[in-house]
Amino acid sequence: MNQLSAKHRPARILTIFGTRPEAIKLFPVVHALAADPRLEPVVCVSAQHRQMLDQVLEIASIVPDHDLDVMKPDQSLDALTAVLLTGLGSVMDEVQPDRVMVQGDTATAMCGALAAYYRKIPVDHVEAGLRSYNIYHPWPEEVNRKIIGSIASLHLAPTETAAGALRKENVDPARVHVTGNTVIDALHWVTARIGEEPALANGLAELEARFAGKRVIGVTSHRRENFGDGMAGIAEAIRTIAQRPDVAVIFPVHLNPNVRKVMNAELAGLDNVALIEPLDYPHFARLLDVAEIMLTDSGGVQEEAPALGKPVLVMRETTERPEGVAAGTAKLVGTDAATIVTEISTLLDDKGAYEAMARAHNPFGDGKASARIVELLANEIGIEA
Ligand code: UD1
Ligand code: UDP
Repeated sequence: MNQLSAKHRPARILTIFGTRPEAIKLFPVVHALAADPRLEPVVCVSAQHRQMLDQVLEIASIVPDHDLDVMKPDQSLDALTAVLLTGLGSVMDEVQPDRVMVQGDTATAMCGALAAYYRKIPVDHVEAGLRSYNIYHPWPEEVNRKIIGSIASLHLAPTETAAGALRKENVDPARVHVTGNTVIDALHWVTARIGEEPALANGLAELEARFAGKRVIGVTSHRRENFGDGMAGIAEAIRTIAQRPDVAVIFPVHLNPNVRKVMNAELAGLDNVALIEPLDYPHFARLLDVAEIMLTDSGGVQEEAPALGKPVLVMRETTERPEGVAAGTAKLVGTDAATIVTEISTLLDDKGAYEAMARAHNPFGDGKASARIVELLANEIGIEA
């Protein structure tokens, strides 16, 4: 069924994504698919995120072929899953793809894989094999990616660790390929774009001037398992560390109301804290550049910061990205306020401790993951170069 020949038509790859990180990690693959005459990308966005997705589509110049526009304020996981599964299934019935591609572990990715499976369409899983071995940390992503892993035809693992996790789960080793993480491709691409057009990232200039001479800590936070006590701890830590006159915090706040409510209530109006709207990708790259330390519970930032030699303190109990911790550029600090403050203070005050973490280290890829993925796909389908 999938042994297509280039003589007939390019193989149709339905690429599905819906959130900011999926868009960032898949735009380089969409670009690479579009540049290859053997393959025909069809892009479907669920728009599980709206504004934060659109920011990425715009900078990457991607106009989706299908847009389900499913985002609703503070949507429950059940409602989201139901609308995604039926919506993505309908798009597959219309597009009739040869293969479906999903990335990571979001609700969109899980539902895309499941809807494809219900139609016996092979699924290619980008960023396969991440495991924390705790189904509630991160929640619900650990189970989402295991579901996708049990369906996938090609497992495109970012690292050898991720590939090893899949082999341990008895996935056929011939189906597992180490490609590197496409986030590094995205980071290289956006850095080059900023090089060509510096104005793309100059929107932080006013803040940079306001905080001139201060040591900038960049913050992001959105994990569901941190809602409640975790978010309260993170806010308290930021409030405490921002009392230091030599420190400034730049915090682009995720649009999830569960994050915004707490952060606005606890941190608005503090002199040394800038709570700002989510940054588009070029401006976030600029923040990674100006920050001395990144404090985050994000997955993607754990991959980007080590690549840029920025110490990253991870406000989680476990990570499915142990490579940064093993390399010494990332550290798990949880969400206890006192612990976070101690860890930040150590990095600010102990030059040796800072330098030990601030080594550019790139366990997550070399920026060529998308090219590898496209080649693997073409081989899988049986189309000669
Ligand atoms: C989702 C993913 C998570 C991923 C994260 C990246 C699931 C279950 N969760 O979490 O794996 O790490 O995205 O950021 O798939 N909102 C807006 N505008 C936006 C985006 C979000 O208003 O552009 C608000 C809406 O009220 C929305 C809420 O945030 O209902 C939550 O969005 P949702 O996609 O359900 O979960 P996230 O917490 O963003
Ligand atoms: N990011 C961004 N603007 C922001 C915050 C983050 O462009 O204001 C990017 C960041 O560079 C990374 C990705 O978004 O590539 C991470 O997304 P998020 O933290 O929402 O999700 P996760 O990676 O935890 O799934």
